[in-house]
This record gives sequence, C-alpha cells and structure tokens, in this order.
Amino acid sequence: MSDLFSLKGRVALVTGASRGLGFAMAEALAAHGAHVVLNGRTAATLNEAAGKLRDRGMAASSSTFDVSERGAPEAAIQRIVEVQGRLDILVGNAGIQHRVPVTEWRDEDFERVLATNLTACFSLAREAARVMLPRKSGRIIFTGSITAITARPTVHAYIAAKSGLHGLTRSLAAELAKDGITVNAIAPGYFATEMNTALLDDRTFSEWVERRTPAGRWAKPEELGGAAVFLASDAASYVNGHTLVVDGGMSVTL
Ligand code: GCO
Repeated sequence: MSDLFSLKGRVALVTGASRGLGFAMAEALAAHGAHVVLNGRTAATLNEAAGKLRDRGMAASSSTFDVSERGAPEAAIQRIVEVQGRLDILVGNAGIQHRVPVTEWRDEDFERVLATNLTACFSLAREAARVMLPRKSGRIIFTGSITAITARPTVHAYIAAKSGLHGLTRSLAAELAKDGITVNAIAPGYFATEMNTALLDDRTFSEWVERRTPAGRWAKPEELGGAAVFLASDAASYVNGHTLVVDGGMSVTL
C-alpha cells in the first residue's frame, strides 16, 4: 500500500531548525524519510540538533547561515543541490520577535524583523523555485502565525511580516502551481518555544492563553510536525495557497 505521507528520497531545507518549531518540523520530515538540511545561525547548536536526528537513524545535515544575509539563501540552496542532488521541500520557518508599544519602535528594529521573517522567506522561495521548476515538482511551506489572523498589541513588525507571508503564500501559489510546486503556510497558535519564554514566564499572559484557547493549554512544538509532513507530502498535492491553522481552536472562538 503506497504511503501518501512518505517523504523517502526527498530533500528538505528547514530554516530556524536548531530548536523550537523548526526543529520539530525537521524531526517530523526526517522521521517520514526525508533527508533534512537544518539551518540556523550558530554552527554548534545546529550541528547538535542535526546530530540528535542522526543518532536516531534519520538523515540530517546542517547548513549554517543567516537567512537575512543578502546572497546567503542562494548560496545555501546551490550547495544543497550540489551535495544532495536536489531540493524537494523548503520550510521557511526562521523568525525573530520584538515586543514594544508602537511609540517605542525604532525603524531599524522594524526593518530587522521584516528582513528575517518576510524578505528572507521570499529570497529562499525564489531560489527554491529556481531548482524545483526544472523538476516540475516541489513543496514550499512558510511558518505564518495566527497573530496575522487575530492581532494583539506590541508585536507590530512580527504581525506585518507574518501577514505578508500569508499573502506571499497565495502569490507564489498562483504562479508556481502549474509547474507542480505547491506553496502553503502553517499558522501556529501559542506554542511553548524559546521565542515565547517571556510569555510563558508571564503568569497573566500564560493563563490568558490557556483560557482563550479551547484546548485549554499551550501547544508542544512536536504538535506542529504533522502539519509540515502533510503539506510536504503527496497527500497535499492539490492543497495550494492555503494557510493551515494549528492553534487549538484559539482563532475561531471568542
Ligand atoms: C506573541 C507570540 C506569537 C506566537 C505565535 C502565534 O508575542 O504573540 O510570540 O507571535 O509566537 O507566532 O502564532
């Protein structure tokens, strides 16, 4: 019986994969047979993360670069194709956060968040499309956010960037679908990750998430892996331009 969710023989690049949601998605893709190239900015933590997967018999390697550095996405994807022979799946996940009232925002902070969370994803998708088009096959997946659907105060650049990613998902889907490349986004709700440590440590905020979410709790990073496997697999061959919300029901309830 064919396994719709098998990624055997596929090569995936996951950015921001040293920990948190990126590592969880990399782990899930590798567990379903993909060779996963984990990206991060710090070689030591990245190699440790890839080593954890290899120790469990999965195919994993690492590519250290800052996604926001001009030219780095192109060089990294060219290197992956040189070494692995192909790139089938891109997960544009790397992201940073900055939380201050609107009047305290500096232009450079706003630009920094957009550069990493949005512009870098476009550069990565462009370079991935360049190598996927000749094969007429590929999967591009962005990590969006429910904050791009239901906003909250202070995280202005993050919401602008993630809203842009949801739009980019649709524009790239419109252009690439005819060539067998699907483009989708995953919009996480509140996951217990390092990026959210400040929120988890804030008892008032943390208890608000628990009350506001029908599931009554924060999500665990590993609860995002299945969505990535689905969108990366043959099971989602006709899913395109879609934002798959994984939020315990938060964004659909008052
Ligand atoms: C915040 C959080 C959120 C979550 C996630 C929700 O400050 O509100 O960081 O942005 O991390 O992105 O989808």
